[in-house]
Amino acid sequence: MSTESKTRAVTTYRLSEMKARGEKISMLTAYDYSMARILDEAGIDVILVGDSAANVMAGYETTVPMTLDHMIYHGRSVARAVERALVVVDMPFGTYQGNSKEALASAIRIMKETEADAIKLEGGVEVLESITRILSAGIPVMGHLGLTPQSIHKFGTYTVRAKEEAEAEKLLEDAIALEQAGCFGIVLEKIPATLGAKVAARLKIPLIGIGAGNGVDGQVLVVHDMLGINNEFSPRFLRRYADLYSTMKNAFESYIADVKSGDFPNEKEQY
Ligand code: KIV
Repeated sequence: MSTESKTRAVTTYRLSEMKARGEKISMLTAYDYSMARILDEAGIDVILVGDSAANVMAGYETTVPMTLDHMIYHGRSVARAVERALVVVDMPFGTYQGNSKEALASAIRIMKETEADAIKLEGGVEVLESITRILSAGIPVMGHLGLTPQSIHKFGTYTVRAKEEAEAEKLLEDAIALEQAGCFGIVLEKIPATLGAKVAARLKIPLIGIGAGNGVDGQVLVVHDMLGINNEFSPRFLRRYADLYSTMKNAFESYIADVKSGDFPNEKEQY
C-alpha cells in the first residue's frame, strides 16, 4: 500500500460548486482497478465503491453480507487507479448503525486503508449520531435515502419508496437533517421524480439520483448494469449503454473455439 495519500481534482467542494452553477454530476460504481481507471479517464466526477459489489461481484442476493474488509479491499483497488474523480466508499451493513464510536472506527479504517476521499452510509435521523461523529473527525459523509438496500429485510421489497405523503415528508426531513449535520451530498434511490426535484430544490448540497428522476443534481448507476454485463436486472430507471454480456460471451466462445481447434496460438503468438 502506498504511504502517500493523494488529493484528487474533484473534491466535495467542487461538487457543491457544480450544484450552485447547475452543472449535473456524473457518478458510477466501480469495484476494481481496471474499471476505475477507464471511468476516471472517461471523466466521471464521482466513483462510488458501492456495497452493490455484494450483488455484481460476489453474487449475493442482498448487500447485507458485505464486510468492512470486503469494502476496504474494493476501495483500495479503486483508489489506486483514480487520479481525478472523487472516490466514495460505502460503509457496509452493521458497521455504523448501532454505535457511533464503532461507526467512527469503521470510517477511519476505510479512509486510512483505502485512500478514498469520503464514505457513504444509508439512513436518516436514526444514524445521525454516527454521521455527526464521523464528520467530527474530518471525514466527508454522503447520505443515502429512499430505497436503502441494507434495510431490505425490514421493508421486504425493492419497490419505489416515499410514494405516500408521510414517507415523502420523512424523507425530506431526513435530507434536511443530513445537510444540517454537514453531509456533502445525498444519494436518493428509487423515489418519485417530483419528490427528487423537490428535495434537490430545497437543499444546497448535491442530490444524486438513481431512479429519482431528472430534477436532481446528478445521476448514479451500477456500472455492471449500465454496461449490460449484468443482464438479470432491468428496472425502469436503468439505461443500458452497452450489451457487454453478449460481447463478452461471444469473445469467450471464440476463444474456446480457437483453443479447441488449435488455431490459438498461431506462429506469431509464440516464442
Ligand atoms: O451500492 C451501490 O452501488 C449504491 C448505488 C446504488 C447508489 O449505493
